[in-house]
Amino acid sequence: MKLEAYLQTAIQAAKAAGAIHLYHRDQDKGVSSKSNFSDLVTVVDRLSEEKIREIILASYADHAILGEEEGTIGEHHEARWVIDPLDGTVNYAHGFPCSCVSIGLELEGVRSVGVVFDPNRQELFTAIRGRGAFLNGQRIHASSCTDLRQPALLTTGFPYDVAQDRRNLEVMGRFLALGLPVRRPGSAALDLCYVACGRFEGYWEHKINPWDVAAGLLLLEEAGGKYSNFSGQDYHYGDALLATNGHIHHQMLEVIQTP
Ligand code: IPD
Ligand code: CA
Ligand code: CA
Repeated sequence: MKLEAYLQTAIQAAKAAGAIHLYHRDQDKGVSSKSNFSDLVTVVDRLSEEKIREIILASYADHAILGEEEGTIGEHHEARWVIDPLDGTVNYAHGFPCSCVSIGLELEGVRSVGVVFDPNRQELFTAIRGRGAFLNGQRIHASSCTDLRQPALLTTGFPYDVAQDRRNLEVMGRFLALGLPVRRPGSAALDLCYVACGRFEGYWEHKINPWDVAAGLLLLEEAGGKYSNFSGQDYHYGDALLATNGHIHHQMLEVIQTP
């Protein structure tokens, strides 16, 4: 019952933030840069995070929250919300409609509830641990593709310091050199949800933050997919991430590990 209540709060917050994205879509978004010229932030990132925090704290005043824009409050509580108020900011700033809100809840460090809302397509991805993954209320599953050359459709992302940290240029080059279709849509949370619902077979990225993946990883797990670090071991925040439909996981690891 409690998990269902947490889910409803996450949905309410994600939809409220999504409405903010849509409201500001055709207005001045107040774009500025953070770590470098390509790492953008908009007024909408900040307004959305404020709204999400307000909704969560109205029901759970003592819970911890980690958000991309405002950092952490209440570090040591057993319940921690991990939020990306706008994943795909560069897309959003350019009017390219591939962006979302991502809200995950960890209980005693275990990812337990996940919500990703794409206001552009009105797609709501939801999951509670042990109860399956859903897209707009319909159960979703990772794809049944068993061979990279079927072919699998792959997706990846790059850190904002890609000009300095070029590791993924090499890895992506390896997949492309095999003749495989690789995309770079620009929203890690949606990349994971799309693997979860079978639109993509595999996703990898080197430098990814907890708020990018906290919700999407649970969605993927509940949809029957698999994830690991690049050594094939348990993924922890900070590691490079490989997420797949499960069937092609080893084939992708081989490509990643064999230069
Ligand atoms: C970024 C997106 C992008 C990924 C970057 C993330 P942001 O998040 O998810 O797809 O490649 O690593 O930082 O900045 O749009 O919230
Ligand atoms: Ca993000
Ligand atoms: Ca963000």
